[in-house]
Amino acid sequence: MKEKIDLLIKEMEQKFKSCTSMQELNDLKVFYLGKKGVITELNNGIKDVPPSEKKDYGMEVNRARTFFNDAFEEKKEKLEEERINQKLKEETIDISLPSEKHITGSKHPFNRIIEEVEDLFVSMGYDVVDGPELEDDEHCFRLLNYTVGHPARDAQDTFYIDEEYLLRTQTSASQSRVMQANTEKSPIRVICPGKTYRRDDDATHSHQFGQVEGLVIDKNISLADLKGTLETFAKKLLGENTKVRFRPSYFPFTSPSCEVDVTCFKCGGKGCPLCKKTGWIELLGAGMVHPNVLRMGGYDPDKFTGFAFGTGLDRLAMFKYAIPDIRLMYTNDIRFLKQFNRKEED
Ligand code: DAH
Repeated sequence: MKEKIDLLIKEMEQKFKSCTSMQELNDLKVFYLGKKGVITELNNGIKDVPPSEKKDYGMEVNRARTFFNDAFEEKKEKLEEERINQKLKEETIDISLPSEKHITGSKHPFNRIIEEVEDLFVSMGYDVVDGPELEDDEHCFRLLNYTVGHPARDAQDTFYIDEEYLLRTQTSASQSRVMQANTEKSPIRVICPGKTYRRDDDATHSHQFGQVEGLVIDKNISLADLKGTLETFAKKLLGENTKVRFRPSYFPFTSPSCEVDVTCFKCGGKGCPLCKKTGWIELLGAGMVHPNVLRMGGYDPDKFTGFAFGTGLDRLAMFKYAIPDIRLMYTNDIRFLKQFNRKEED
C-alpha cells in the first residue's frame, strides 16, 4: 500500500507542476477528491481491507489526501499571485506618453470685453455695480429726466411688461439706482455693465445686447474730467494711437451731451467700408449729469456735478475682434466661439 501511495503522490506532484490555471486546478480536485475521485475510491475501498490492515490503509489514504490538500493550497496561492502580477503588468501606466488632448471651452467675446472694461476702470478707482434687467419706468426713464411722453422714449423701442415694468433699454437705469442707494450722498465713481433689451433685430442690432454705463459724481467734476477719462479709456482699449473726437449730441439725462468717435481701427482713419469712408467710428454717448437727474437722485446740483457715459459692449467686442454680425454673439455657433480659444493665448 505504501508504494502505491508513494506512486500516487509522485503522479499528483507531476500534475500539480504542469497545472497552469485555476480551471485545471479545480479539475484536479474533481479527479482526486470528487465523488468518483481516485482518493475517494481508495477511501471507499477500506471496507474490503482485512481488519488488521485497516489502520495502515487508512493512514496511507490520509497521507495522499493531506498531500493533495497542501499541494492544492500552495498551487492556488501561486496561481493567484501570478494573476495579480500579470494584471499589474498590463495596467502599468507609461507616464512618458503624451496626454490626451481635451477640448476646452473658450471665454465668450462678450465676457472677454466685460472683463477688459472692468479691469480698466477698476484700475482707475471705479467700483463695478449691478442692476436689474427687469426695470421699472421710474428708474429707466423718469429719474433720468424722460418726462411722460418725452420724444426720446420713442427712440428706445422698449419691451414693456406692463404699465410699470419693462426690460431695461439702457444701463443708464443703474445711474438712478446708484444715486438712490447712496443714502449718504457721498461721491460716486462706478461702472455698471449688463444686458439691455430693445425691439431691434438686424446685422448690427440684437434684441438683447450689452451696455456699460459709467457715472462719476463729486464736487468740481468738469467736462475736462469727462474728456480725459474717455480718452484714456479709448486709448487703453483700442490702442495708444487711437484718436478721439467729441461731437455735440442730445440725451435727456446729460447736459451738455456728446458722442465720442474714435479713429477707425481697421483703416487707421484713412477711410474704409467699416467706417463708411469717414475714418471715424462712434464709440459712446456721454455728458455732464443733468441738474434734474442729480436733484432727483438726491444730490444738490449747486454742490455736486458729475459726468456719465454709456457704450455698447457688443459694439466694443465687434470692433476689437472684427466680428461682422452682432447675432454671432448670441447664437453660440461653435465655429465662431472656437476662434476665441486662440485669442485667449494672446
Ligand atoms: N444710454 C444711452 C444709450 O443707450 C447711452 C448714454 C449716453 C449713456 C449718454 C450715458 C450718457 O450715460 O451720458 O444710447
